[in-house]
Amino acid sequence: MQWATVAAAALFAHNVAAQNMLRFACSQLVVERTDPIVNPGMKYTPHLHQIVGGNSFNVTMDPQSHDLAGQSTCTSCTFKEDFSNYWTAVMFFKAKNGTYHRVRQVGNGGPQGHLVNKGGLDVYYIPSGKTTAFAKGFRMIAGKAANTDPSKVAKSNICHRCWTATDDNTFIGGAPCSGSDTVDIPADPKCKMIRQTIIFPTCWDGKNLDSPDHQSHVAYGSGSGANGGGSCPSTHPVKLPQIMYELMWNVTEFSDKNLWPTDGSKPFIYSMNLGGSAAHGDYVFGWQGNTLQLAMDKSCNLNKDCAAAGIHAQTPDQYNACTKKQQAPEDVDSWLTELPMGEMAKYA
Ligand SMILES: *[C@@H]1O[C@H](CO)[C@@H](O)[C@H](O)[C@H]1NC(C)=O
Ligand SMILES: *[C@@H]1O[C@H](CO)[C@@H](O)[C@H](O)[C@H]1NC(C)=O
Ligand SMILES: *[C@@H]1O[C@H](CO)[C@@H](O)[C@H](O)[C@H]1NC(C)=O
Repeated sequence: MQWATVAAAALFAHNVAAQNMLRFACSQLVVERTDPIVNPGMKYTPHLHQIVGGNSFNVTMDPQSHDLAGQSTCTSCTFKEDFSNYWTAVMFFKAKNGTYHRVRQVGNGGPQGHLVNKGGLDVYYIPSGKTTAFAKGFRMIAGKAANTDPSKVAKSNICHRCWTATDDNTFIGGAPCSGSDTVDIPADPKCKMIRQTIIFPTCWDGKNLDSPDHQSHVAYGSGSGANGGGSCPSTHPVKLPQIMYELMWNVTEFSDKNLWPTDGSKPFIYSMNLGGSAAHGDYVFGWQGNTLQLAMDKSCNLNKDCAAAGIHAQTPDQYNACTKKQQAPEDVDSWLTELPMGEMAKYA
C-alpha cells in the first residue's frame, strides 16, 4: 500500500501533491555514549544515543577523511547502498522506586505498510519538486539536546504522539506533527506506544557541509510538517530531500500508572534527563556515490528495490545482522539506579 494512493487525503493538507518517497526501517547498530558530531573523539559523552546505519560509525568521523560508504562493511538500514548514520537520544522509563529502564523501540506500520525493525528507527526521505541530495561529508542536527523550553520547539518539526494501540499496524491520527501531537513526551496511561517524529531542515546554504552549531548551514523552508519542506529562503537556496525520523517507543509494559513515580517526576524521559523538548536527531550522510540523488530523481518509493537508481532493499535478517560493539561499554539494558550520563550533560 502506498501513502500516495491510500492516505494522502488523511495525512496531508489537500493542496499538497501526493508523491513518492523513501520510507524504510533501520535496526539498531548500537546504543552507546558517543557523538561524533558534537563530541568527536569522546567516549562516554554527556548522554546516551541510539544509533543506526553503516558500521563505520566511530567516535571520530572526520568529515574530510571518513568515507562512510568506503569504510562500512554493512548497514543496519534497509538499503544496501545507504551507509549514513542516524541517531537520537534514548527514552527511559522511570519507575516509582527511582530506577530507570530503557524503552524498547519497534518498527512503524500504518497506511504505508509495516516496517520490520530490531530496535532503531524508521527513516524517510521526502522530496518536493527537484531536490539536491546531500554531499559527501554533510552532517546536521535537528532539535537541541539542551533545550528545556517546549515553546522554543516548532511542533511541526519535533513532536510526540500518544499511540493507544500496541499493534504498530493500527495507524493513529493524521499527518505527522499535526492535531493533538505534543512537543513534550506524553504521560498518559492510555499511551501504549509513543511515536516520536523528528523532521530535519530542507534548505542548504549550498556551501558548508557543517557549521559550528551543526545547524546554521541549513534552514527550514516555508512548508510545515512532512510535506517536503516548501520553498527555501535566499540565505539557504538549495532544496534538500526532507529527512524525517520516526521512532516508535513501545511503552506498553510501563503504561500501568501504579508503576509510575509518585514524587511528581515524569515517567518517560530522554537520556539528557531534561524533558521532551530536548529531543534531537543527528544525521551524517553516507549513501554510496549518487544513489540518493538518483533515488530522488527517479521517484523511488518506500522500501522497495529501485533499479532506476541502483538501490537494493536488504531483507530484515540482513540488516538486523549489522550491529556494532559499544565503543563506550556500559550497561544500558538493566534497571539502572541512574541514567548513563556525564557531568557535562548538565551544561551541554
Ligand atoms: C575509529 O577511530 C579510532 C580512533 O580514531 C581508529 O583508530 C579506528 O580505526 C576507527 N575505527 C573505524 C572502524 O573507523
Ligand atoms: C524497581 O522497580 C522496577 C519496576 O517495578 C522493578 O522491576 C525493579 O526490580 C525495582 N528495583 C528495585 C531495586 O527495587
Ligand atoms: C509492545 O510491547 C508489548 C508488551 O511487552 C508487546 O506485547 C507488544 O507486542 C509490543 N508491540 C510491538 C509492536 O512490538
